[in-house]
Amino acid sequence: MLYDDIEKVCVSEEEISKITTKLGKQISADYKDKCPLFIGLLKGCIPFMTDLVKKIDVNCTLDYLRVKSYEGSSSTGIVQYFGLFPEVKDKDVIIVDDILDTGRTIKVMTEKILEEGAKSVKVCVLLDKPEGRVVNVEADYVGGIVPNEFVVGYGLDYNEKYRNIPYIGVLKKEVYSK
Ligand code: IMP
Ligand code: MG
Repeated sequence: MLYDDIEKVCVSEEEISKITTKLGKQISADYKDKCPLFIGLLKGCIPFMTDLVKKIDVNCTLDYLRVKSYEGSSSTGIVQYFGLFPEVKDKDVIIVDDILDTGRTIKVMTEKILEEGAKSVKVCVLLDKPEGRVVNVEADYVGGIVPNEFVVGYGLDYNEKYRNIPYIGVLKKEVYSK
C-alpha cells in the first residue's frame, strides 16, 4: 500500500488547508487593485496551486511552466524549463511552487520572468527549507518551514511518485533502497 511507505506526517491535511486559506487572504489583500498572473511550476505546484487560487478573491489569471532540477532526492544544480513561455509582459506575476530548497529554481525563473518584461514578480511557496539554500533568494509568501529532510506528498515527489498523497510526509528509509 502506498501509505505504508510513509514514516511520519510533517504537515497534515488540516494544516495545509489553514495555510492555503491564510496565504489566499494575504495575497488577495496585497493585490486588491491588481490582476495577478499566477505561474505554477509543474508538476509539484498542482495540488497547492489548485487549492490556493480558490482562496483568492481578486481577479487573476493562471499559467504554468514545466521546470525540473531534481533527480531522486537530490538537486542536480541545473534548472531546466520546457514548453511555451507564458506571456508576462507588464503583468504582476506570482510564481507558485511546492518547496523552496537551494533557491536555484526560483532565482532562474524570477530572472527570466523579469527579462521577459513582467511589471513585478513575487514568489509563493507551500514550504521553505532554509537550511538547503545555496543561492540568495527568499519567497514573499511561505506556508511553512521544514527541516533539511526530503519530504513527499501534496505535489512533492520522489522519482515522480507520492504526489497524490494529501499531506506532507517523510518516506521510510527502505523506500530509497527499493
Ligand atoms: P530548488 O530550490 O531549486 O533546489 O528546487 C526546488 C525544487 O526541488 C522543488 O520545486 C521540488 O521539485 C524539488 N525539491 C526540493 N526539496 C524537495 C523535497 O524535500 N521533496 C521533493 N522535492 C523537493
Ligand atoms: Mg517542483
